Amino acid sequence: MTILITGGAGFIGSTLADKLLSMGKKVAVVDNFNDYYDSEIKENNVKSNLNNLQYKLYRGDICNRELMRQIFSENKISTVVHIAARAGVRPSLEDPLEYVRSNIEGSVNILENMKNFGVKKLVFASSSSVYGNCSAEKFSENLKVTEPISPYAATKSACEQFIYTYSKLYGINAVCLRFFTVYGPKQRPDLAIRKFIELINNDEAIPVYGDGTTMRDYTYIDDIVDGIIKSINYNKTQYEIINLGGGNPVTLNEMIETIEQVLNKKAKINRLPMQAGDVNKTVSDISKAKNLLGYNPKISFMEGVQKFVDWKTCEDMKIENQIYNNV
Ligand SMILES: NC(=O)c1ccc[n+]([C@@H]2O[C@H](COP(=O)([O-])OP(=O)(O)OC[C@H]3O[C@@H](n4cnc5c(N)ncnc54)[C@H](O)[C@@H]3O)[C@@H](O)[C@H]2O)c1
Repeated sequence: MTILITGGAGFIGSTLADKLLSMGKKVAVVDNFNDYYDSEIKENNVKSNLNNLQYKLYRGDICNRELMRQIFSENKISTVVHIAARAGVRPSLEDPLEYVRSNIEGSVNILENMKNFGVKKLVFASSSSVYGNCSAEKFSENLKVTEPISPYAATKSACEQFIYTYSKLYGINAVCLRFFTVYGPKQRPDLAIRKFIELINNDEAIPVYGDGTTMRDYTYIDDIVDGIIKSINYNKTQYEIINLGGGNPVTLNEMIETIEQVLNKKAKINRLPMQAGDVNKTVSDISKAKNLLGYNPKISFMEGVQKFVDWKTCEDMKIENQIYNNV
């Protein structure tokens, strides 16, 4: 049986694919390698699996009805891990229609195929952004989430609802995982930690929006992948929404201080006003993930930043060697 990963060339999807293959699972990936960020990064993410007989890559759009039908008919799919989406909060204010197309239309196309081909297990990449500017001390899954403050967040909320509907109508077992800011090796280049590490390393100023007191519950990529795999194996209830967070939120100022410590360099700060669509804080309540899945994030923020910097240094050295060898 095959696990289908949509968006499997991206940051989280490709890390999950690598892990599942290392566990001996059969994996199919669909990804359109869009230009939201440099598609060469995505090519790099899939490169090492292309000759693996347990791995199949489909290049194309999840909204393409013909392609998705073909993927479902060519593979015996046991589980869909639906990760493909236009990610990123701020760009969703610029191009909301693309977010509606990729995130909502794409998700419904997948649900239609699951219905038509009798696939009964779905794990969905939702987001902490659905909580909006929630005033609760911790964000728990039983809070009403009716006030998303970006088109991106609104699409994720809509997907959770469509998944609920299909789960109830067609008996699909579904887990919607609300990821809290994921970081680590292969992280998207548009996300703050990666940008800051690169800029501080090059002695360039980092753009800091607001006074630095905004707070994020950063979650290390390996902990997220562990939570996804636990959700693939979860089958006690038919529909669940579950937070996957790191459990130890840090402020923007603390995030910068941690990077400074790991790099042993002082950041130059370019202070800018808060951006529309950005929430003030994300603080996960992960007790449900602990109880239902046995999820237990292991990597502290300091450790995670150190691992990320080590990986980045290695990648930069590979690129330098390549340039050197080509001269
Ligand atoms: N990274 C985070 O901090 C974070 C936090 C919360 C939720 N999420 C969610 O997790 C998922 C993965 O995030 P990521 O950081 O790995 O992003 P990513 O952009 O690296 O990965 C998404 C992948 O989906 C593909 N894709 C997008 N639209 C597609 C379409 N229409 N058809 C086919 N492929 C398409 C992209 O090419 C990309 O490879 C997204 O759904 C995102 O909303 C991420």
